[in-house]
Amino acid sequence: MRRKIVAGNWKMNKDMKGSVELVKEIIQTNKLFGCEVYISPSFPFLNEISSICELTPIKVIAQNVSEKSQGAFTGEVSVDMLKSIGVDGIIVGHSERRKIYGENDEVLRMKLDNCSKNNLEVFFCIGETLELREKGKQNEVIENQLNNTLFDLPDFNLDKLVIAYEPVWAIGTGKNASSEQVQEMHQYIRTLLNLRYGKSSDSIPIVYGGSLKPDNSKNIFSCPDVDGGLVGGASLNPKAFLDIISSI
Ligand code: 13P
Repeated sequence: MRRKIVAGNWKMNKDMKGSVELVKEIIQTNKLFGCEVYISPSFPFLNEISSICELTPIKVIAQNVSEKSQGAFTGEVSVDMLKSIGVDGIIVGHSERRKIYGENDEVLRMKLDNCSKNNLEVFFCIGETLELREKGKQNEVIENQLNNTLFDLPDFNLDKLVIAYEPVWAIGTGKNASSEQVQEMHQYIRTLLNLRYGKSSDSIPIVYGGSLKPDNSKNIFSCPDVDGGLVGGASLNPKAFLDIISSI
């Protein structure tokens, strides 16, 4: 059986006080989660939030990392720095990083390689724009995004990989992909993973992201090839996030 995962990407929201309050509310519910739970606060609060989560099942991941190891790269944060404060993994290739900050396949390939060599878990985000979906090119986009990055790396550590399918048109728009669209794409991604890695890829979780809410998560999570979710806006509200977790 594949791992089930729900992760909260807090993006550039919450200050120190707000981040601590949010994580404490999630912890205090005393619920036994039916899946693995991850949260991804902003860089300055990772240390504090990691310490708070240390004795809980919640894992803490960063929203980004440098493709470089160390040196004169003002404003960047390295894998070693994140490891040194107990961060468990990294979100790589989020569409906001690709679109707003111009991260291309070359940079993403280096980031993936860097994380894998350092044994950090990776949530690798892929997804098509509305324009390309309307042209029926979503499969081609996904295949290219994988071929030019992950699949080009000779020995990526598959045990540390989670694929996040996040159609760009569904992110922060309130318009989630339908469960049929999600299932169809996840099945396609699973086929691509099998072609590239063979049987050993069967255990790689594929999660969905894009306007996940308590009222649509159950439907989406019930698709056979959906192994969980990467939640943006709704993860900032502890009740909504916990409801999504319970719906898996
Ligand atoms: P929303 O849930 O706000 O649409 O964001 C999804 C996302 O980008 C998670 O990484």
